Amino acid sequence: MNRQLPIEQSKDTVPPSINLGEHWPFNVDANEVEQLGLATPKNNYNGFLPDLNKTLGLKPNGSHFHLSLNQFFGLAVIKAFSEHESTLERSKSWMLPALTSELKSKKISDEIEEFYCDESAHSLMFEQFIVGFCDSSKTDHSILKKYLPSFPESSLATRILKFNALLGGSAAWWLVMHTEEESLKIYKMIKNTDSKIDESYLTLHKKHYEEEVTHMSVAPRIIRYIASNKSILSRIGRSTDFLAMLISQTLWVLQQCGRFNSIQSYQGTDQFMINVRKAWEESSGGNPIENFLAKTRLMFLALLFTSPLNSRSIRAEIKKNRPIFGSLSLKLYEFLSNRIYKNEGSAI
Ligand SMILES: [Fe+2]
Ligand SMILES: [Fe+2]
Repeated sequence: MNRQLPIEQSKDTVPPSINLGEHWPFNVDANEVEQLGLATPKNNYNGFLPDLNKTLGLKPNGSHFHLSLNQFFGLAVIKAFSEHESTLERSKSWMLPALTSELKSKKISDEIEEFYCDESAHSLMFEQFIVGFCDSSKTDHSILKKYLPSFPESSLATRILKFNALLGGSAAWWLVMHTEEESLKIYKMIKNTDSKIDESYLTLHKKHYEEEVTHMSVAPRIIRYIASNKSILSRIGRSTDFLAMLISQTLWVLQQCGRFNSIQSYQGTDQFMINVRKAWEESSGGNPIENFLAKTRLMFLALLFTSPLNSRSIRAEIKKNRPIFGSLSLKLYEFLSNRIYKNEGSAI
């Protein structure tokens, strides 16, 4: 797992014609990469997500529009992962506040380093896939990026997480846990669908899945470690964990839905973006309410939004270690979770 990664190559500086195989961050044999069709951009990509009509009831007119919309939201899924993962590296200074030396003595610092290394690699891999897709479909990467998810350091969602961390809370780590769970769910969803999923896109998620399962214990262990801090400030910070997590996630989702919706105002000449806009405008999922709901489900899917309120890993962690997390906002989380998901059984 000791990989040398071009981490310093930020996503904004990825050259437009990067060769995916050259920078492949996983320990995959070069022949395998070639066989899987991942090494170079292809002429044609199949759909990235299960059939939008069958699964979500969204009915874009025209099969090529349908395919473009499907691919756009497939790219949005991996961009959402990439944004979360690259944010981790940028947020190291406040997400691991002064814990590093103590964690070293607890011998989990190597795991944390590996975790960060893995996530930076994943982010890079997803960005490269997007660039490869743009190359092959002659889509302007800088234009496409304007409509895909983004998680800037300056956003209110990030600031809330940062403030919580400065107080000694762990809201950001609860969200990491949630996102990791979503990455497994999304891979299983596209692997088990009847729809024809693009082989290279599926492999991308498969490789991601294989590494995610190796470091899934890191976030809960850090959360437990932070919870062992008995200082008053940290207790206050932690009492806001779940509130901060929910507000931050909600703000982010709303902001990204706005980005998706702005596709409607695209006036450029890029054929892929024109197809996406037309498919978005002309989707006719029965009546307007059904259409609205189908579009909302698609946007939420792309934003990894099974709500954290319905996250199995969060709920399991709370159940297992409830006494160390006891706080007012935990009660709020439990209340909302049980209330909203009562039909799926008692959450906690
Ligand atoms: Fe990842
Ligand atoms: Fe991960």
